[in-house]
Amino acid sequence: MQTENGPIGVFDSGYGGLTVLKEITALLPQYDYIYLGDNARTPYGSRSFETVYHYTWQCVEWFFKQGCSLVIVACNTASAKALRTIQQKNLPFMAPNNRVLGVIRPSAEVIGTMSKTGHIGIMGTQGTVNSNSYLLEIQKFFPEVQVWQQACPMWVPLIENNEHTQLGADYFVAKYTQQLMAQNSAIDTVLLACTHYPLMYNKIKAALPAQVQLIMQGGIVAKSLKNYLLRHPEIAQKCSKNSSALFFTTDDSAIFEQQASLFYGSNIQAQQIEIG
Ligand code: DGL
Repeated sequence: MQTENGPIGVFDSGYGGLTVLKEITALLPQYDYIYLGDNARTPYGSRSFETVYHYTWQCVEWFFKQGCSLVIVACNTASAKALRTIQQKNLPFMAPNNRVLGVIRPSAEVIGTMSKTGHIGIMGTQGTVNSNSYLLEIQKFFPEVQVWQQACPMWVPLIENNEHTQLGADYFVAKYTQQLMAQNSAIDTVLLACTHYPLMYNKIKAALPAQVQLIMQGGIVAKSLKNYLLRHPEIAQKCSKNSSALFFTTDDSAIFEQQASLFYGSNIQAQQIEIG
């Protein structure tokens, strides 16, 4: 679709992917990045497969138009529901030289090494959990590991509405962590399988039994991207290197700028765009 060098695209339904971009830019500061949050249509977690696929592909096409040869879908829900179709059905015909990567496989590749008991908890959106993507991916790499999943449908809305630090959030943190641990008390490793959840890391950690380690995936995805670029110099050389980052949202840019700093850890400037 395009031949010039361009930035690496990082996509999420809203703000969550910023927790991943933060880790990626820390590990690979030399590249250019553009981030898109589909805030106008967030959350994706409760939407159908077809809708998430449709929204995600529209956004991926937007990245391609901006000159991105490589797009990271930094959203578990979109990775679970749209990535395979995009990789297998869309890219070969519509953008065979471009690559779209997700966050589930990199996390599944390493999470099995972190557990001593062989019991791993996955906390994600309803869409991610219903897709069973983690179950299937982890079993490929660690067939001996048992995976226990817990949908946490209230967490993204709480975070997107900046209510996650309030007392009301404690109720839903206690509810979902208890429901997860009730599935199997031998769970010793829990993955935050939604890029929004790191904002509630401390609350979630405090609600889990002390022996349970809680894993955020941003650093894992960043390391995996670094390896990918080393293994694929033909893609790496299409990614421009001026250490820049641009931010776009499908909703109000002033609101985005205000909220984004919570996820990204520093102030940013954003532009509103229209998709579809
Ligand atoms: N950050 C997205 C994820 O990782 C949130 C999903 C949503 O929009 O509901 O799943």
